[in-house]
Amino acid sequence: MSHSNQIEKAKDHLGKLIEQQFTRIEKMKATKDFISYDELDTIVVGVVGGDGIGPYITAQAQRILEFLLKDEANKGKIKFKVIEGLTIENRAKQNKAIPDDVLEDLKKCHVILKGPTTTPRAGDPWPNIESANVAMRKELDLFANVRPVKVPEEDIDWVFYRENTEGAYALGSDGIVVNDDLFLDFTVTTYEGSYRIIKAAFDYASKSGVNKVTVVTKANVVKTTDGKFLEIAREVAKEYPNVEWDDWYIDIMTAKLIDTNRRSQFKVMVLPNLYGDILTDEAAEFQGGVGTAGSANIGTQYAMFEAIHGSAPRMVDEGRAQYADPSSIIRAAAMLLEHIGYNGEAKKLSMALDICGQYEKKLVITGRDTGATSEEFANYIMDTLTRDDLEEKWECYL
Ligand code: IPM
Ligand code: MG
Repeated sequence: MSHSNQIEKAKDHLGKLIEQQFTRIEKMKATKDFISYDELDTIVVGVVGGDGIGPYITAQAQRILEFLLKDEANKGKIKFKVIEGLTIENRAKQNKAIPDDVLEDLKKCHVILKGPTTTPRAGDPWPNIESANVAMRKELDLFANVRPVKVPEEDIDWVFYRENTEGAYALGSDGIVVNDDLFLDFTVTTYEGSYRIIKAAFDYASKSGVNKVTVVTKANVVKTTDGKFLEIAREVAKEYPNVEWDDWYIDIMTAKLIDTNRRSQFKVMVLPNLYGDILTDEAAEFQGGVGTAGSANIGTQYAMFEAIHGSAPRMVDEGRAQYADPSSIIRAAAMLLEHIGYNGEAKKLSMALDICGQYEKKLVITGRDTGATSEEFANYIMDTLTRDDLEEKWECYL
């Protein structure tokens, strides 16, 4: 093919991508207000096991949710809906990031608890389909990826607001192979998409009384998209005169998270998708690694809560899946409880997790038969939840 034909083909492809983004922008403009869980007769909680160790750890988080919401379930206010089929085998067979029937089921839920799902890449034994996570965030328009990281003894109390539907992820499976020498990927920033995540971060900072937001970009180099993100942040900041804010570039921000003189000053951070992906893994490491962090993916109509680690297929291959650490998905379950308005239960579960996983440690998970199983650990958490002195116990560790 001649160069001019290659250029024409690339232009066609780009034209289609722009059309898709126009459609997406129209949808965002028409978006309804946030759903009110109080007003629902029944809140449907979807439970999706995922791949690898996913079904093992998710089952434990589900048991804990059922335990805490027993009365609500009896009253019919809460209904659990287990959704099968979001496995790599089924996704590969159907050649879809999310099979149609699974997506239909997901849309029947209000909130979803999701175990890790395998993300294929070129060279894997699986077809190179889009990540199920990324597809779910897009399909359900879960634009805010909220990831808290807390290490009280080091005065670390961070909440990351990662943009979750745009940036390098929006067209991550739609790049252009121009010819054997030239490959293009794209990053997408929209006014609507940036405004809503930045607004969510400022809103949280203002309502929680933290009153401090840090905007992270690389606006000095990535001028069009990151430049716009920062410009919109300036605009949003004007709506919140009580919220102090500053902006940092992602490279120095990555360094400053390990600067003990500086890092406690960061509180709420808002950032484009890929920077958020990277920075939140780094941040979670201070708390004990990605295995300890939960992640909320929030949109106006749906919300999904997940473990932030991978599916660890090796543990299943080696017959160790029952020893997988369920802490991250249980942390996600606590975030789910808070999101749907069960703040007391959420707080208790977070305290029990801190006590069992970080302080008391009567049982320890090692990922092997040298430690507790996920089920034993979940039982330990449930025992801790029923302790009368739960709160005092937790406070004495702080
Ligand atoms: C995360 C994960 C996902 C992401 C992967 C599994 C697609 O790393 O939730 O941070 O890149 O967003
Ligand atoms: Mg990640």
